[in-house]
Amino acid sequence: MEINTDITLRKRVERTQRLLAEAGQVLEASLDPTTRLANLAQVVVPLLADWCVVHITEAGQPIHPVAVAHADPQKLALADDLQRRYPPDPDALRGVAQVLRTGQPEFYPETSDEPLVSPRDAEHLELTRSLGLKSVMIVPLVTRGHTLGALTLVVSAESGRHYTEADLALAEELARRAALAVDNARLYAEAQQLNAELEERVLQRTAQLLAANTQLENSRVQLLRLAHYEQAAREEERTRLAREIHDELGQDLTGLKMDLAWLQKHTRPKRKDLLQKFKAMSDLVDTAIQSTRRIATQLRPGILDDLGLLAAMEWQLQEFEKRTGIRCKFSSSLEEVALDADGITVLFRILQETLTNVARHAGATQVEVFLDQAQDTVSLRVQDNGRGITESEVAGLKSFGLLGMRERVTLRSGDFHIQGTPGQGTTVVIRLPLNQGRVATPEAP
Ligand SMILES: Nc1ncnc2c1ncn2[C@@H]1O[C@H](COP(=O)(O)OP(=O)(O)OP(=O)(O)O)[C@@H](O)[C@H]1O
Ligand SMILES: [Mg+2]
Repeated sequence: MEINTDITLRKRVERTQRLLAEAGQVLEASLDPTTRLANLAQVVVPLLADWCVVHITEAGQPIHPVAVAHADPQKLALADDLQRRYPPDPDALRGVAQVLRTGQPEFYPETSDEPLVSPRDAEHLELTRSLGLKSVMIVPLVTRGHTLGALTLVVSAESGRHYTEADLALAEELARRAALAVDNARLYAEAQQLNAELEERVLQRTAQLLAANTQLENSRVQLLRLAHYEQAAREEERTRLAREIHDELGQDLTGLKMDLAWLQKHTRPKRKDLLQKFKAMSDLVDTAIQSTRRIATQLRPGILDDLGLLAAMEWQLQEFEKRTGIRCKFSSSLEEVALDADGITVLFRILQETLTNVARHAGATQVEVFLDQAQDTVSLRVQDNGRGITESEVAGLKSFGLLGMRERVTLRSGDFHIQGTPGQGTTVVIRLPLNQGRVATPEAP
């Protein structure tokens, strides 16, 4: 731009560098695309133009000005007014609309008042004249092959300046940088938007998962409560049955046996046939008494309630050894276990279930049982020397023995572990907290 004929080449180079440097700074100064363009308009005026307008075209929207700058503050309002009241005619063959369509710059080094616009009315012509266009460049804002706007640079008649090819090249470079800056800002905004949407979706999903998890947890707690209720009811029923069979049936049978003895005693010795019958009946009653004791004990050994866990375990192991021939060893450092009746039943039932498994699956010749207490925990370990349970058997979902044991222990906030070593045996370890509440189920929500 020839501001003055004696501008030296050096000054021109300096001005170009200064413009590009300042433009670079202001284009980066904000993340908002419109602000970036407004800042650029401020840098361009007055270094490269007396006034300048930046137009943008966005999908679905008409061409609109996003920044207007004028060297003369009084004329800024006029320039602004002109842009807003008379936006570019989208069908015009010259001017901003054409530059946006073609992506090619338009260059008017020396022009009259109305070269670019066909005045739409007298006021339009008046406004344009009062701004006094002298020399005009309209350069497209092109990025990634897409024209997103146009930069219109004007020197007015009063300044006596006019644009050169070098100014056009500089304007194109500025436009290229501005387009890139706007594109980057838009991409950044899009990325931010996507990020925000993603975060929103993650938040929603997390909330859904939390809700589902709470529901699941509630169902689990309800199931545990139900399991505990059923377990307790079953145990109570067994205790009642055992007592009734033992006490009532057992006493009746004992009464019967005494009556038979009385009959035997009061039958004349001559009546051998009757005496033989009484003897057979008495033997049968003896067998029935033994059966009731056995059945009652199987339901719930009285020794568990009368003499406690240690005695009941010892008795159970002796019975097991007698029945199966598998040698049993019992060790405990305790004299009694400070557990409530429910806890004692849990340990005893688990021992019974574990021994049944040894007899059925292990092929063992020996079982060792340890009962110990450390701080607030009582632990039961049952170790056999059989084939060793496999990992898939531990994880198996088809059988209910292990599942039931685990459940009983969970209900008491305890741990249940079972592990096998091939050819060497299986170890089951149960740990129950001593002072924990009876049931590990929180109150219903
Ligand atoms: N001491 C053991 N030694 C080797 N394998 C074992 C031992 N205890 C259990 N298993 C294996 O683990 C499986 C699961 O045991 P679990 O007690 O759950 O079921 P089960 O005894 O087969 O049937 P039930 O439901 O009647 O108890 C058994 O089928 C068996 O294969
Ligand atoms: Mg079993």
